[in-house]
Amino acid sequence: MLTVTTISQLSQHVGRSVTLQGWLYNTRSSGKLLFLLVRDGTGICQCVFEKTDANTERFEAARKLGQESSLEVDGLVRADERAEGGFELTVSDVRCVQNVQGYPITPKPHGIEFLMKHRHLWFRSKRQWAILRIRATVVDAIRTFFNTRGYVLIDTPIFAPSAGEGAQTLFEVDYFGEPMYLAQTGQLYLEAACMSHRKVYCFGPTFRAEKSKTRRHLTEFWMVEPEIAYADLDAVIAVAEEFVTEIVRRVLRDHRADLQALGRDLTVLDSIAGATESKPPPVTSVGVGPHQPFYRLTYTEAAELLRGPRARELLERDLAEHHAAVERLKKQIEEKEKEKSSPGVKQWKADKLAAEIIDHREELAEREEAVRNIPHHMQLAASFEWGGDLGGSDETIIARLHDRPVFVTHYPRQVKAFYMKRNDQDHRVVNNFDLLAPEGYGEIIGGSQREDSLEVLLERMKEENLATEPYEWYLDLRRYGTVPHGGFGLGVERTVAWLCGLKHIRETIPFPRMMGKVYP
Ligand code: 4AD
Ligand code: MG
Repeated sequence: MLTVTTISQLSQHVGRSVTLQGWLYNTRSSGKLLFLLVRDGTGICQCVFEKTDANTERFEAARKLGQESSLEVDGLVRADERAEGGFELTVSDVRCVQNVQGYPITPKPHGIEFLMKHRHLWFRSKRQWAILRIRATVVDAIRTFFNTRGYVLIDTPIFAPSAGEGAQTLFEVDYFGEPMYLAQTGQLYLEAACMSHRKVYCFGPTFRAEKSKTRRHLTEFWMVEPEIAYADLDAVIAVAEEFVTEIVRRVLRDHRADLQALGRDLTVLDSIAGATESKPPPVTSVGVGPHQPFYRLTYTEAAELLRGPRARELLERDLAEHHAAVERLKKQIEEKEKEKSSPGVKQWKADKLAAEIIDHREELAEREEAVRNIPHHMQLAASFEWGGDLGGSDETIIARLHDRPVFVTHYPRQVKAFYMKRNDQDHRVVNNFDLLAPEGYGEIIGGSQREDSLEVLLERMKEENLATEPYEWYLDLRRYGTVPHGGFGLGVERTVAWLCGLKHIRETIPFPRMMGKVYP
């Protein structure tokens, strides 16, 4: 009986024989050697099985195992720098738990529709495995950050009798015959809690009936929200900055290899992580201080940036690049099609070409979409008027023009939620911020100082046509011991998408929920 271990523990067993329990990720054979790529949930290990006179039958049986067959492998652990994970197993025996034939997801490329339908299997693949491990680390980094800084975890309700963010994206449910909503945020409840505990946070699933299908929107996503009593906008921004920096550091510390395997360029993340840990005093005036790790812009400055030459040049460059790529891809596809259907082409070659064509077609579709969209985005940016909300493409532009995250502050009050604090100097704007992730990712945090004056809040609710009755409890917080306070919400999935460098948010959550997509 051998010691059962896991691939992540192999370094403890070099030179000894062990048993691995896992699944067959891929196989390759060459003459008397069978290379079984085995994954066991903790990693991937190449297991080398050599055919001998004594094991012919077992060898042949192992050779017939299909992808994702479940199996137990006995073998001697060898350290090998060239091997994936650094270790290899010299196999003495393979026991099959289930021999699988016809696993739907093969090493060849598949379209995204197909993969989404097979999400329950897709997440066994290396990329998905790495992404969800990174997500788990992000979640842990979030909890650790707040738990080690004196924040009290407050679990806010999922059933909410009134809107927290905006009536358009409410999911209504039938609550014993009464209408009720799924929580869009825990914030309003946290405001009550911070008057009891001073520093609090909530962390859980939130729901928004987003009717648009974008790469940034889910209908169910996880949000962490801190709320702090006796804090103004600058204090909240300082927390957000330290928070994001810590998450980046932790992910780089624990997942550098995973990120590299995902093809993530780490320049920007490294520069964030290397930022000075000692904070400069909060800057009240706008602009980037020399030591500040993140940039700061007011909404008004952001609007100027959008209308200005830098934004236009960026998009013109993009457009030219996408145009060139479209031409190149079309030519490549054509050539590969020709080669594939030429007489005498070997089956393996035809398969390889077919796979490459699928890849190219997907990229072509993306590039063509960009070519269609960019002129519209240019026009939106060039004609951006003070008073409107920043759209997704506007955020992308601002985020692309910066090499570190950007705080955009002081939005016009009419595009923001009723609870945000009116700015003392300029009543048209509120003391809020969005944090835009660089490299084109856009908003990952929304936050603000909260309106602490009962009078102003009531005025604001009237402007928004909000009935006061459902919010009486919330108004009580302004009647009994009101203080300056504020907080923010960070979306886990958007943060993971940025950290991993993913094009789309759908890969960052185990089972994504989007409009028209709820299976499996
Ligand atoms: O900006 P939002 O709407 O802010 C709030 O909900 C505040 N109550 C937070 C607070 O001040 N306590 O959302 C916060 C973050 C966004 O920046 C984004 O990262 C994420 O939540 N988010 C979404 N993520 C995925 N899909 C969606 N549909 C999202 N909507 C918001
Ligand atoms: Mg927002």
